Amino acid sequence: PLPSELFAPERLNSAGIDLSDPLVRAPLMVRLTALEAKHPIAAPIIGGKTLKGSKVPVTAPFDRSITVGHVVEATPEAVAQAVTLAHDAQPDWDAAGVDVRADALEAAANLYEKHTDELLSLCVREAGKTVPDAILELREAVDFLRYYAVEARRQFGPADPLPGPTGESNTLTLHGRGVIAAISPWNFPLAIFTGQIAAALAAGNSVVAKPAGQTPLIAARAVELLHQAGIPGDVLNLLPGDGKVGAALVAHPGIGGVVFTGSTNTARSINLTLAQRTGPIVPLIAETGGQNAMIVDSSALSEQVTRDVVQSAFQSAGQRCSALRVLYLQDDIADGVLEMISGAMRALTIGDPRKLSTDVGPVIDAAARASLQKHSNELSGAVVCRLDLPVGQGNFVAPAAFSIPAISALSQEHFGPLLHVVRFAAENLDAVIDAINATGFGLTLGVHSRIDTTIERIVARARVGNIYVNRNQIGAVVGSQPFGGEGLSGTGPKAGGPHYLARFATERTLCVDT
Ligand code: NAD
Ligand code: ALA
Repeated sequence: PLPSELFAPERLNSAGIDLSDPLVRAPLMVRLTALEAKHPIAAPIIGGKTLKGSKVPVTAPFDRSITVGHVVEATPEAVAQAVTLAHDAQPDWDAAGVDVRADALEAAANLYEKHTDELLSLCVREAGKTVPDAILELREAVDFLRYYAVEARRQFGPADPLPGPTGESNTLTLHGRGVIAAISPWNFPLAIFTGQIAAALAAGNSVVAKPAGQTPLIAARAVELLHQAGIPGDVLNLLPGDGKVGAALVAHPGIGGVVFTGSTNTARSINLTLAQRTGPIVPLIAETGGQNAMIVDSSALSEQVTRDVVQSAFQSAGQRCSALRVLYLQDDIADGVLEMISGAMRALTIGDPRKLSTDVGPVIDAAARASLQKHSNELSGAVVCRLDLPVGQGNFVAPAAFSIPAISALSQEHFGPLLHVVRFAAENLDAVIDAINATGFGLTLGVHSRIDTTIERIVARARVGNIYVNRNQIGAVVGSQPFGGEGLSGTGPKAGGPHYLARFATERTLCVDT
């Protein structure tokens, strides 16, 4: 498509909510407070029916004494039942045509917007998102629904005859692969959960969705809205539960493909299961972790660097796959920039995400907190700046910055508000890029420089999926900034980009002698 077509009016992204307007902000906060009285239940939804079973409490990451709702986890029998129903329903959904599918996704986008308060409330209470982050999350979910609807109409419509010398009628059409297992993480419990499902459905597949164990309530509400929008119950099924449910799902021979977002290790495990199971050979679309760096040279504007580093490393409590983990600062500006970053960090408010004054909320659970805390303690001798923690029963981790000698000193992704800083000499720029590439991850890279040739040199050498120049490196916008990594960071294609849907489809050529 031409660039102008990519920005056609029907693709305009969701407007979100303007929190700077007190006439919008104040009533919203009152409504969100009122919704705290609601305690939903998430349970397997199979063929449109909600199953019963024993309920486990879902607690709030910012205060484990608060029960947000309850979950009924899926059993192995529920996994088999969901796949069988979805398998039988898929041919009709594919045959219904792209307009039926796209209409349902667009209706779902409207319903998500209609239920904004409820979805925001769940993102804040169940996932510990700040209110501004929850708004961005909802916007992204709505954008995915609308974007994939438009893309599906463009790519899955009636086939044009293919040119060529045969004198026959030749056409190529795209079809759903079958049942897609959609396995998603807790850090984008609405946006990524919805994006995976929307893409799979748009391409003519049925879906069995397995949300993260930590965030079943948001997922269950989303599935109810998707059904309400016209997606048949047997075409979209939900299996709440932990990794064992996901493992059982991908091992099922009735699955026609897997879309997974989460850690690199889990992607490897899914790949292994797919290779060893019986049934057809099916694709894995994996969007995984990162060891994301930012390179700042001495021509960069310190104030802008400070703002972008703090946002990239600490917004969403550092729990974005895109978040900045390793800041490379050219040594002749490092002291001054670090002083400014430390000052900006000290201005951050850590605490209850239900308060609008909060900048950094909790991490998702006690296990994440313990692992991050351990890493932070191990680097105690190298602290540049570490903030104090709020008291209480929340899963809080003190945002901190540490000096390390090189990115290779980190043996894994530390998924939280911990930033690592490396100083480099200008003549070692290529070695810096090579060291970043050598991690094997390739998700996001930030660059701050005012020298065009330096930017071009970095862009040409770096092997990462999303490069951001002179800005922060989080918050890719659907349709405008297709998102996803390479190497250990994922298989591609990019979510929110024009090549995504085709991976969910199989191609058929029809040749008719005329
Ligand atoms: P995770 O891998 O622990 O879990 C992700 C999902 O996989 C969950 O639903 C989980 O229950 C399921 N799962 C776990 N073990 C499984 C198994 N053996 N078989 C099948 N399913 C299984 O990841 P997480 O902690 O939920 O999410 C954080 C990770 O996700 C980070 O590494 C982050 O970088 C990554 N992430 C990547 C992107 C991206 O677009 N590249 C986006 C968001 C998050
Ligand atoms: N798409 C999310 C971001 O860019 C992960 O921050």
